[in-house]
Amino acid sequence: MTILVLGGTGKTGGSLTKLLHEAGISFIVASRSGKAEPYKAVTFDWFNPSTFENPFNADSNIDKVYLVVPVAYYDIAPIVNPFIDLAISKGVKRIVLLTTLQTEPGVEPTFGAVHQYLASKDIEYAVLRPSWFMQNFAYNFYQSIRENNEVFSATGDGKIPWISTEDIAQAAFDTLTTPESIRKDLLIVGPELLTYDEAAKLLSSVLGREIKHKRHTSDEQVKAFSQFLSPEFSKLLVDMEVAVSQGFEESCLKEPLSRLYIGKHKLEDYFKANRNVWIK
Ligand SMILES: NC(=O)c1ccc[n+]([C@@H]2O[C@H](COP(=O)([O-])OP(=O)(O)OC[C@H]3O[C@@H](n4cnc5c(N)ncnc54)[C@H](OP(=O)(O)O)[C@@H]3O)[C@@H](O)[C@H]2O)c1
Repeated sequence: MTILVLGGTGKTGGSLTKLLHEAGISFIVASRSGKAEPYKAVTFDWFNPSTFENPFNADSNIDKVYLVVPVAYYDIAPIVNPFIDLAISKGVKRIVLLTTLQTEPGVEPTFGAVHQYLASKDIEYAVLRPSWFMQNFAYNFYQSIRENNEVFSATGDGKIPWISTEDIAQAAFDTLTTPESIRKDLLIVGPELLTYDEAAKLLSSVLGREIKHKRHTSDEQVKAFSQFLSPEFSKLLVDMEVAVSQGFEESCLKEPLSRLYIGKHKLEDYFKANRNVWIK
């Protein structure tokens, strides 16, 4: 039996492949380049459906899939749902889908429509719904921290249960490999709630220079995101930030423990371990 890891060259998928490798579990990575050294990989592109069969042609034993949807693309259900059908027709018995903490099933377009579609299928599944990644400080804010000593958001004083992509990968590993029969979604959160102001203060103390949190209005934040994302996707992200400012993510922690997956990694430790990223 083999696990197909979509997004296996990315942050969560890359950590997942390490865990699978260490556990001696058979897996294959799908990537646009067809490369994921040192692991076995196959060419796969969400925007080229003729590549959807490639993983199943390369390995006829695929029975589980880790599914990272096309990144930063707005209307994904028409792209992803046909792949879910194909995977099931090829013998896949369990799919673990990565969405976001704030996306309820059925919310369209984007992730919610895929979540609902997956839940309507007669297979095992887990939907991992993580909060904001700690790694955003190294990727999304790489330049603004190094060049301008700032991060920016429309989250105001809202608290975020920052999550490490390593913890998300562990949640993916656990849900992919559990012998239990599963059909559920999990809210994936970190062990602490911190505002952007508090996160910037922690990073400042780790770096020994002041990093500020620039408070944007919604409109300012949409404009900032629109420099590298579509206007629709930018608006979606900003709506999620506004929900943070209104206490939505903090309130998620009041959900029953059975719905929560609480990661181990703390933001300060992440900053300390990756300090060099933000040093010029
Ligand atoms: N950042 C956050 O705070 C946050 C919070 C909650 C949820 N999320 C969700 O997390 C997901 C991103 O996960 P991640 O950070 O693990 O991924 P990532 O590091 O952004 O990597 C993206 C992965 O997707 C693959 N990919 C990109 N375009 C592709 C295409 N056209 N066809 C096939 N594969 C493609 C890339 O592989 P190749 O380049 O090798 O093809 C890569 O493996 C997104 O859906 C995002 O919405 C993010």
